[in-house]
Amino acid sequence: MKPKRLREHWGSRFGFILAATGSAIGLGNIWKFPYITGEHGGAAFVVVYLLCIIVIGLPVMMAELAVGRTAQRNPVGAYRVLRPGTPWFLVGVMGVLAGFVILSYYSVVAGWILAYVFKSISGAVTGFTAAAGGAEAAKAHFQGFAAHPGWSVGWHFLFLAVCAFIVYRGVKGGIEAASKILMPILLAILLVLVVWSLTLPGAAAGVKFYLVPKITTVSVGPLSFPFFKGLTGSAVLIALGHAFFSLSLGMGAMLTYGSYLKKDADLSFSTMTIALMDTVIALLAGLALLPAVFAMGLAPDGGPGLLFHTLPAVFSSMPGGVVFAVLFFVLVAIAAVTSGISILEVVTAFFMGELGWRRSRVVPVVAGIIFLIGIPSALSFGAWEGLRLFGLSFFDLMDYLSANFFLPLGGLLIALFVGWGWGPKAIAAAAEGSYHGFPTGKIWLWMCRTITPIAVAVIIIAKLAGIG
Ligand code: PFF
Repeated sequence: MKPKRLREHWGSRFGFILAATGSAIGLGNIWKFPYITGEHGGAAFVVVYLLCIIVIGLPVMMAELAVGRTAQRNPVGAYRVLRPGTPWFLVGVMGVLAGFVILSYYSVVAGWILAYVFKSISGAVTGFTAAAGGAEAAKAHFQGFAAHPGWSVGWHFLFLAVCAFIVYRGVKGGIEAASKILMPILLAILLVLVVWSLTLPGAAAGVKFYLVPKITTVSVGPLSFPFFKGLTGSAVLIALGHAFFSLSLGMGAMLTYGSYLKKDADLSFSTMTIALMDTVIALLAGLALLPAVFAMGLAPDGGPGLLFHTLPAVFSSMPGGVVFAVLFFVLVAIAAVTSGISILEVVTAFFMGELGWRRSRVVPVVAGIIFLIGIPSALSFGAWEGLRLFGLSFFDLMDYLSANFFLPLGGLLIALFVGWGWGPKAIAAAAEGSYHGFPTGKIWLWMCRTITPIAVAVIIIAKLAGIG
């Protein structure tokens, strides 16, 4: 019989928090959040998003960490130990599948970012002054680049190779060590960029758009009441999906990271810290981007292209733009790597735990599979642009389905597991190691039983029924 390998653990609580925060802070915060906020009405969207984080994000994150820490297993194995002989393990299976899908397209965008780090260093993306065509020229440059199959597939490969290198080195020597170096750099760069953006002339309009909700009057029969202007039902689903995506919830990433915690590690403090850091960084990213966009007289709703069309034009038209462009793309690249490794770790932990493979064998195999699944997404902007499924490109379909359905559904099921499947034992399990007798435990369990799953279910069903 082969000797059983000991489970890896984090070296310190601080290391775990940095790694988990690194997972949460990613393209979701810096690429997606500012542009979906721009598209869905600015500050009103921010308010709904924050509500989703509190009512849904916090309880689900706590649930994932508690399940992982108690079971000390990968997402599938965890349900198997806690509730043997029941179908709950399927929640874990869904999470692992979501991991494959999400990383496959996440890595395509992250690959572009890596390319833009090099392009910004060589000055290739800061020549788009107004005289040279501004945002339109930047857009044409980006489209030409993303449409090139060799470049998009090649950078996708490179990003996965970087993630695989880190994950290959293990939990403490790879993920934790990388997070300890990269996260402080990320924070420092972001602060420099925020200060710079806020001091540009004309920045105030961007801050206002971002932080002050527009109110309109809505009439229902004889009653009229104030409501957020521009806030639609779809925006609520998008905010919910984004809360899951941004906090890395619903597919077992936090569960897996939680499984490397020792049993006496505090959970409520960690949950709050990770969620708070993630939210603050998303808000700061918006504060670094939107004021600069307004200051240059450009539109804030540039869609996914905000980063690749609008920003290069912004950087091109200001003194010192090259330096800020390099800093900015390095920042996003760091955020993407520390998230990418957490998704890869979910899949890796599953193969190691359930199939008994060694890490050194799992990592190249799963990274290779993810690379292949990602190829259609990498080609979605060029050769395979015409391929439409349900009216969306392959890339968009992967993003839409995983962020808006798989992750919320996964989160809903995790909340139900804790609330009903695992039952009262959950409180005791989660309270272990807590500093203050876990005062939040009862509220948490109650939320996992009621508000959290109901809120997620209502939003998903409303969307499927075509309301909003
Ligand atoms: N939270 C990451 C981001 O905001 O970019 C993305 C992500 C990481 C989603 C890990 C899901 C996950 F399990």
